[in-house]
Amino acid sequence: MKVVRGGTLVEPHWAGPADLLIDDGKIVAVLSPGSEVDEAAETIDATGKLVMPGGVDPHCHVGFTSGEFTSLDSYLECTTAAVFGGTTTIVDFAIPRPGQEPLDAAEKQRAKAEEGVCDSALHACVVDWNDTTADQLATMADAGIRTVKMFTTYAGETMANEHTILNTMQTTRDLGGMVIIHCESDAIVTDAQNFAAASDGVDAAHMSQTRPELAETASVAAVLAIAESQQAPVYFVHQSSSAAVELVADARKRGLVAFTEAVAHHLILDDSAYEGEHPERFVCCPPLRAADVVEELGQHLFTGHITTIGSDHCCYDTAQKQVHSHDVRHMPNGLPGVETRLPVIFSTFVNGHGLTPSRFVELTSTNPARTNGLYPRKGSLMPGADADIAIWDPDLEWTAGTDTLHMATDYTPYEGIPLRGKPVTVLVRGDIVVDGGALVDATPRGRHVEAAPLDFSGAFSM
Ligand code: URP
Ligand code: ZN
Ligand code: ZN
Repeated sequence: MKVVRGGTLVEPHWAGPADLLIDDGKIVAVLSPGSEVDEAAETIDATGKLVMPGGVDPHCHVGFTSGEFTSLDSYLECTTAAVFGGTTTIVDFAIPRPGQEPLDAAEKQRAKAEEGVCDSALHACVVDWNDTTADQLATMADAGIRTVKMFTTYAGETMANEHTILNTMQTTRDLGGMVIIHCESDAIVTDAQNFAAASDGVDAAHMSQTRPELAETASVAAVLAIAESQQAPVYFVHQSSSAAVELVADARKRGLVAFTEAVAHHLILDDSAYEGEHPERFVCCPPLRAADVVEELGQHLFTGHITTIGSDHCCYDTAQKQVHSHDVRHMPNGLPGVETRLPVIFSTFVNGHGLTPSRFVELTSTNPARTNGLYPRKGSLMPGADADIAIWDPDLEWTAGTDTLHMATDYTPYEGIPLRGKPVTVLVRGDIVVDGGALVDATPRGRHVEAAPLDFSGAFSM
């Protein structure tokens, strides 16, 4: 038994002084400060700290193969970095290689969960529809894999056509699941890439020209139409502009169950990164946008139109990024971020722009748990929840850098950026794994968490 004493508990609906009683890996009571508990209980002093549910990262690629490159981390490495950054559940992807069936990809990726320091869940992925796909989706739903990633870009790798998207939406809707989708019109992207190749250049420094905002909004509109035709819930990953976010918000006003995910790098970094010494390190899809677009996107953390914040963690290193940095069409896309997601958002938006800690928890923990069928086991401090807890020093000042981080790569997109606020003690199912900012228990204890049928009746911020 443990008791967390003296801190300020933060939940989406409430924040205030309270103690937390933990037993057998679960939260068993929220107590008035100083309440008597069994004297054998170990005390964790949270005086002056914020006590939050551990983060749930809804978008995290672990050991992800795309084209000729595989991102560099194992489950142990990725989840170790995650807990340092206050995240105690990751949702990874089972993305089939060309010719592989979704169920096979899911079974292989799911087997890795036990290597983790914390728990994980999984998104399935459908690329092509065939006679067995519906049965595979049903089998995966029974095994607690209910969210299905799709792409409207990356032709020849993971792009799905409209028939496949519609069929997958119909089937997942009836299985209590949801399609989650990367929207960029592949035709517009390909044309922009070819134009860049024939003019200014298609190297990493020209990344933003190769994937224009219009590619994203055109695809979001098309996918929303398919979802509305089926009254199927839909979740848009890594939306990078307010124009895209507002299309989804409008659809919600028409009654569609539709969600926006933003990722940390689109909320913090802008396309000036492509003018620096290492443009290749910032190559991701959609690309980083102009500063005014970043500013407008951030406003939607306050309007409520952004539902979740993910990392879109992809742990490539500089050498992998440099192999084809003269031609982004062949580069590995994505940025490392599982460890920095929470600290950079807390520092920039909570300490910097007055986002409430409650809304921070909602965006980074509770809503990701809800949209993935993991709530209230994850994303909550209420009795009955797993005792996944991040105790934050909201004023601790530190500098992001590869020397202070633990991801399996040689760079961070936030190198040298001063931050305020950091998780100092992190518990996974009641065990202290990070304390005083150090890893104190590296035991692989991860479990695959099965998603329950999604429940959209709850109070999502919209
Ligand atoms: O650039 C990105 N986002 N890479 C990871 C794969 C994806 O599209 O999410
Ligand atoms: Zn994507
Ligand atoms: Zn991704």
